[in-house]
Amino acid sequence: MPFAHITGWGMHVPEPVLTNDDIAKLVETSDEWIRSRTGIRERHIARENEFPSTLGVEASLKALQVANLAPTELDLIICTSSSPEYIFPATACLIQDQIGATKAGAFDLLAACSGFIYAVNMAAQAIRSGSIKNALVVGTETLSRFINWKDRNTCILFGDGAGAFVLQASDKPGGVLSAVMHSDGSGADLLTLPGGGARHPATETTVHDGKHYVYMDGKEVFRFATRVMGQATQESLQLAGLTTADLQWIIPHQANYRIIETAAKYLKMPMEKFVVNVDRFGNTSTASIPIATVEAVEKGQVKSGDKIVFVGFGAGLTWGAMTVEWTGPIEPKKTIRPQQYRLFARLRSLLRRTMRFIEGIFFRREL
Ligand code: ACO
Repeated sequence: MPFAHITGWGMHVPEPVLTNDDIAKLVETSDEWIRSRTGIRERHIARENEFPSTLGVEASLKALQVANLAPTELDLIICTSSSPEYIFPATACLIQDQIGATKAGAFDLLAACSGFIYAVNMAAQAIRSGSIKNALVVGTETLSRFINWKDRNTCILFGDGAGAFVLQASDKPGGVLSAVMHSDGSGADLLTLPGGGARHPATETTVHDGKHYVYMDGKEVFRFATRVMGQATQESLQLAGLTTADLQWIIPHQANYRIIETAAKYLKMPMEKFVVNVDRFGNTSTASIPIATVEAVEKGQVKSGDKIVFVGFGAGLTWGAMTVEWTGPIEPKKTIRPQQYRLFARLRSLLRRTMRFIEGIFFRREL
């Protein structure tokens, strides 16, 4: 059975930064309150012309560059997002088109902030089964579009950004060692974006009632998160036949510094073993784990052979954890420049649209 290795990683955040002081001009809050309750100092917010697909494409091309893998060699793209570009088509298809992944299947996976762990697990399972060799997993968000900037309970928390992993099959042991995924839909109402779906299709009333904004019962989500983070970590470690003593790093979903601290206490592990960057990015939902990972790798903290647990929680309710042995990029056979595929992808997309248009004219004549 092949092993599923993480061979590429990339992140991208929009340039504009929103500080706590900026938010204090919008709602009654303060930098001191936000920092002491959440650990967040600032977050990045997408410009008008930035979307989950465009941020995701940037992160994906960087991940493919690290893996030295051409987009045309991808078999599968899974995009996970709490703020997808559309209900349909899948954001994964938009990314597939923009990077020129000509032979990849592409779909979106929705598990809110646990999405990246779920999606990496699905990609790893497809590789382990032998049905595919190369997969791209993208977590990408512009949640700022769904935030009520007059609601101080939520607008202080979220940021925009994207992160991506490339997973590849290898006979060498390592890579994804285990994963656990959990859900409890009885808590679905605790964290939700109620408008725009089939239950509350967009109308003047839904907009008037603010149903297109994130609603969150912060206290309940906090209580749930502190309960499950440590438990899921231990379950995943047990499945991999490891203990916390074997771990070099825990890379948790970056929602709130206090939630991470509580998990550290539960696991009896020092905070130094936790990768934390919530202070600079806020909660980027599905993108937070890959963004934190990329930073830790680039800083030289995470090294080849390290045992790492990724752990997250989110709306659904969902939660999950994954144990990996970090292997880094597989030896390159040839040098690939994924950025060059972007131009090819644009031309290909344009050509396909034009051909579809011309074919459509002839098809209509034949009827
Ligand atoms: N600034 C100032 N005061 C505030 C603010 C604010 N931004 N927000 C709330 N308050 C007030 C409240 O009104 C309350 O005042 P009161 O005592 O007079 O009623 C007081 O501060 C305390 O409010 P709490 O809600 O108890 O504050 P808490 O310490 O619980 O922190 C927070 C709130 C930060 C939202 C916390 O509950 C939390 O982080 N929850 C988890 C959220 C989370 O992780 N969500 C993401 C899940 S992932 C996903 O799927 C997207």
